[in-house]
Amino acid sequence: MNAFLAAIAAALMLASFATSGADPKGKAAAPATAPAAADAKGAADLKRAQQIVATRCSLCHGLEGESASPVFPRLAGQHPEYIAKQLADFQSGRRKGAMNDQAKDLSEDDMRALGAYFGRKPPLAYPVRDEDLAGVGRYVYQKGNSFSGVAACASCHGPKGEGTVQLPRLAGQHAVYIEGQLKEFDKRERTNDNAVMHAIASKLTALESRAVSVYISTLK
Ligand code: HEC
Ligand code: HEC
Repeated sequence: MNAFLAAIAAALMLASFATSGADPKGKAAAPATAPAAADAKGAADLKRAQQIVATRCSLCHGLEGESASPVFPRLAGQHPEYIAKQLADFQSGRRKGAMNDQAKDLSEDDMRALGAYFGRKPPLAYPVRDEDLAGVGRYVYQKGNSFSGVAACASCHGPKGEGTVQLPRLAGQHAVYIEGQLKEFDKRERTNDNAVMHAIASKLTALESRAVSVYISTLK
């Protein structure tokens, strides 16, 4: 049986060598041009993103995605896929808020380019100012609250708040913004994809919300 499979595999490999050999222009040229095309597209995307950011987004989120005012979320180091997804949701109206107007005329390519632009900016974090409050936040973040059934934030957002492709990075975000989003999730005023976070935010006390938000802002 194994010998039979090996024979088939060998035959398939031979066949693919044969086809690539038979078409030297098409297939052999591909490895040389594909990265060059990707580079050119990357450079064009970056240029377009730079222009949109400089003329519009930087007003609130800063040129580096640092967002000097705590009511505007920091975008530096955020996952590009998450940024593009939120922009699409703002455009379609799935997520309602201050960004609806900003996202109105962005193309899908713009959204992807803007995600890539902010995603590669270095993230920032706050120093610890109130150790006791941050300590309560650390407990909630890393361990959750088994008395009220709050899952540890770390189990989804990562022990350092780094997030994943599907999940937002939280580390270093403004505490005021985080706390505001937790309130919005609680009341389902954050209108897109709120099922998971609603279940969590609705169980947090005011102290836990404040503490976990402050702790998150200090993560790097
Ligand atoms: C007038 C201020 C303002 C401008 C200009 C602005 N934003 Fe925003 N942005 C906000 C506010 C406020 C929020 C929080 C929205 C909410 O909670 O409803 C936000 C949220 C976002 C989010 C979601 C972040 C998250 O963590 O969920 C993204 C992504 C975003 N903005 C990208 C952009 C891009 C890209 C531009 C430029 C095209 C831009 N913004 C221009 C104010 C602004
Ligand atoms: C079971 C997984 C899970 C757990 C546990 C979890 N989250 Fe989330 N969180 C999510 C998902 C999924 C989203 C993205 C929602 C979306 O796509 O709009 C999110 C989004 C968020 C956002 C919005 C970020 C932004 O940039 O706008 C905040 C803030 C947040 N979570 C805080 C927390 C906190 C604090 C805890 C712990 C008390 C926590 N999360 C626990 C899954 C989780």
